[in-house]
Amino acid sequence: MAAQGSTAEKIVILTGAGISAESGLGTFRDEGGLWAQHRIEDVATPEGFARNPQLVHDFYNARRAQAAKAAPNAAHAALARLQKEHPGEVILVTQNVDGLHEKAGAEAIHMHGVLDGALCAACGARWQAPLVMGPADGCPECARPATRPDIVWFGEMPYFMDEIAEHLESCDLFAAIGTSGQVYPAAGFVQEAAYAGAHTVELNLSDSDTSHSFAEHRVGPASRLVPLWVEELLAR
Ligand code: APR
Repeated sequence: MAAQGSTAEKIVILTGAGISAESGLGTFRDEGGLWAQHRIEDVATPEGFARNPQLVHDFYNARRAQAAKAAPNAAHAALARLQKEHPGEVILVTQNVDGLHEKAGAEAIHMHGVLDGALCAACGARWQAPLVMGPADGCPECARPATRPDIVWFGEMPYFMDEIAEHLESCDLFAAIGTSGQVYPAAGFVQEAAYAGAHTVELNLSDSDTSHSFAEHRVGPASRLVPLWVEELLAR
């Protein structure tokens, strides 16, 4: 159902690592991906951080440096265009922490945090992360050496879930782009949107764990699929 007083469709889009693959940033579960190179329990859990904060900072320092050098691709640019030109609301929810949607001029809800964000585990303060972070860094607010990347780790609650749920309940079209559908709660968004009556489409290089839940599928690289899909939406 379109937003009150407007006939233009409300669109909610979920993106995953696949949309940034063609910008040179590795995905997690593809051949040779990040989780083939590192153990999740060592670098993406609170327990891993407590055990060896230097190892975790090194992992995110490397990803932060790579993301800082990466450029958005045609898929990121197409979503920014859709947000600007579509007459209805376009809500972009991303699992990615690489900042490429913003570099392309889009606004995104970062449910898994951001690489260029720092968080104080002691007092909850947030600030712009330096390129290199370390366990001895003091928090600018409370001065305690309890700084961590502002990234949501496994076992932690993703950010903005209430806001995202409201968008899923009121959207007319839900699209998932470049995500394997293996990590909840993001993998459950398609069911929430379908239950609310939205049309659902998956744009991916191959099938995902939640492909069966989508009404429509488009298979191919995001940098080709997404601009064509946006062109179609804006021509309607
Ligand atoms: N174009 C479109 N899709 C692609 C491309 C591409 N060029 N390259 C890869 N893909 C697809 C893969 O087919 C796969 O479905 O992107 C998806 C990548 O899946 P994952 O590596 O699992 O990444 P993602 O779904 O974002 O992971 C979700 O898991 O580890 C956590 O917090 C991490 O946010 C991440 C979450």
